[in-house]
Amino acid sequence: MKHIETIKEMQSLALNWKRSGITIALVPTMGALHEGHLSLIRSACQAVQLHGKVVVSIYVNPIQFAPNEDYSKYPRTLQNDLRLCQEAGADAVFTPSNEVMYPSGNEDSNAPLRYSTFVSEEVLSKTMEGISRPAHFRGVTTVVNKLFNIILPDYAIFGEKDFQQATIIRRMVRDLNIPTQIIVSPIVRESDGLALSSRNRYLSPDERTQALCLSKALKMVQEKVSIQSFPAKELKEEIRVMIEKQPDAKIDYIEFFDPESLVPVVEVNTGTRMALAVYIGKTRLIDNAIL
Ligand code: PAJ
Repeated sequence: MKHIETIKEMQSLALNWKRSGITIALVPTMGALHEGHLSLIRSACQAVQLHGKVVVSIYVNPIQFAPNEDYSKYPRTLQNDLRLCQEAGADAVFTPSNEVMYPSGNEDSNAPLRYSTFVSEEVLSKTMEGISRPAHFRGVTTVVNKLFNIILPDYAIFGEKDFQQATIIRRMVRDLNIPTQIIVSPIVRESDGLALSSRNRYLSPDERTQALCLSKALKMVQEKVSIQSFPAKELKEEIRVMIEKQPDAKIDYIEFFDPESLVPVVEVNTGTRMALAVYIGKTRLIDNAIL
């Protein structure tokens, strides 16, 4: 497995692969890899089969974090991540630095080298995560575009865990005619239901127990909606009461929406998607499910 740190080296490797007719699959990540990420790497291996190449990018993208968010304390576990990528069957791991991705240029000159181009999706990005984190998706679509241009993937694998992110990436690829097929892979959970996340390692043992309220809320609604439809307002209130029983839980949003347009629904049916974001202490967790 190759470990590549520069854009030049990554792009020329990808170009050589493409010229030889080799299929490329990309798994973009921010590292602190867990079984959820590894399931995406396995999907990538399946997508390209024996003759293709799988690239994992590990980059904590500063422009998708707001100044008050956890950019500086985001877990960085590169040596362990490299080992996991190798074991999961990756052919290359791309770990660029900030200066490589967003050159600051020379501030004393007219700064012609300074980074100044961004990509933003302007409709799907405005709801849910986009309300709580207004600059987040612009950072995500920009970095994913850059990674696509550097790695030239035929396939890119994203997790359903970040359902809104995957929907926005799909829209971006369609709108900008990017020749990459997006594969969305199911959420990997702990045996008790907690969705795996790099941020779970911020939780104390007590918070870890309280964090189960997210997956429990999803399950409760799934069971109710499998029998009959309910007004979204009524379900939101029921979930609010349930989650607020946890002493350290603070709801950011609970939403019921159409899975394609992300437009909120008034009446919740089977096929509606539910997503929620809840702070457990200082840690912000998200989860979602189809009902
Ligand atoms: P990160 O949070 O590291 O997630 C990388 C990928 O792993 C995402 O597609 C995410 O949905 C997926 N993932 C995370 N937890 C998962 C789980 N429990 N089950 C299945 N898939 C899971 O998402 C990002 O990084 C960044 O925004 C990125 C796309 C890399 C752009 O910077």
